[in-house]
Amino acid sequence: MRFTNLLFSSFLLLGGNVVSAAGGKKDKDDAPSTSQFGESALLANTGKPQGKEFVHNNITFYISKPSPSNPRAKSRAKEAVLLLTDVFGIYLPENKLLIDSFARAGYLTLAPDLFQGKPAPADLNTPGFDVGGFLAAHSPAVTDPIVETAVSYLRDTLKVSKIGVSGYCFGGRYAFRFAAPGRGTDVSFTAHPSLTEDSEIQAIKNPLAVAAADRDDLLNATARASMEALLLQTGQRYQVNTYGGTPHGFAVRANLSVESEKYAKEEAFVQAVRWFDTFF
Ligand SMILES: *[C@@H]1O[C@H](CO)[C@@H](O)[C@H](O)[C@H]1NC(C)=O
Ligand SMILES: *[C@@H]1O[C@H](CO)[C@@H](O)[C@H](O)[C@H]1NC(C)=O
Ligand SMILES: *[C@@H]1O[C@H](CO)[C@@H](O)[C@H](O)[C@H]1NC(C)=O
Repeated sequence: MRFTNLLFSSFLLLGGNVVSAAGGKKDKDDAPSTSQFGESALLANTGKPQGKEFVHNNITFYISKPSPSNPRAKSRAKEAVLLLTDVFGIYLPENKLLIDSFARAGYLTLAPDLFQGKPAPADLNTPGFDVGGFLAAHSPAVTDPIVETAVSYLRDTLKVSKIGVSGYCFGGRYAFRFAAPGRGTDVSFTAHPSLTEDSEIQAIKNPLAVAAADRDDLLNATARASMEALLLQTGQRYQVNTYGGTPHGFAVRANLSVESEKYAKEEAFVQAVRWFDTFF
């Protein structure tokens, strides 16, 4: 299993093109064949989104399912990823492509529109955009019910039995909140989480992994050290990886012409997939 994961992570790291995982592998214990080295990658940074939008309980969702021939999907039929986006929401192409990438890794992946059709503008410095007001309008009191609807949809409608939360920036806080007891999820990953409170870290009961940016004003070195200390105290399985040469947001909106950012985005995706593969 370890060896398989090692091969798999090397396989994921090579390249950033959209290439579906080929081959006739039956389950997650089968390693990709060596012929896949250098020619296949699961993370798409560019290209056309493959998933679909639909409305359920007045919430728009983006869903991406593994293709029927996906060699990694069969052993993951009862597991799903619930992706909670940054403030740019499910309509941002990078977010759709990230959701599709988890589907390519074999996981049905669902993401709710956390902002009712009104995400933050792609440039947060857009004149007239009030970040404080936006965040106040999307407090946990507003956001928790949306995430709860997504969890119920996965469990009750799609009959998924295990849910892995993958939260980015704004959504990262909910990777902690929904790792608390009784929230209906099983494992969490978060990249550059923001606004997380100590009590939310202390309350987790699921394995939780963090991909942090070293140049993140929203989670600076002091805050990262404190988060790690709190995670240790929870007694849960955890991991905190800090990626050098990265700004806040890199796991979604990396500048692909900066090597350290492109590398970190790919590595954080591999970190999430391996975390789910191992701790579901
Ligand atoms: C549905 O959501 C929209 C916001 O996207 C809201 O304006 C509307 O009142 C909601 N409708 C119902 C029936 O809840
Ligand atoms: C790090 O962030 C905290 C808020 O989380 C802030 O109080 C502190 O001043 C920051 N430290 C540095 C060195 O910027
Ligand atoms: C991305 O990085 C390149 C190289 O440093 C730089 O020229 C470009 O302006 C950056 N793009 C954005 C959108 O920041």
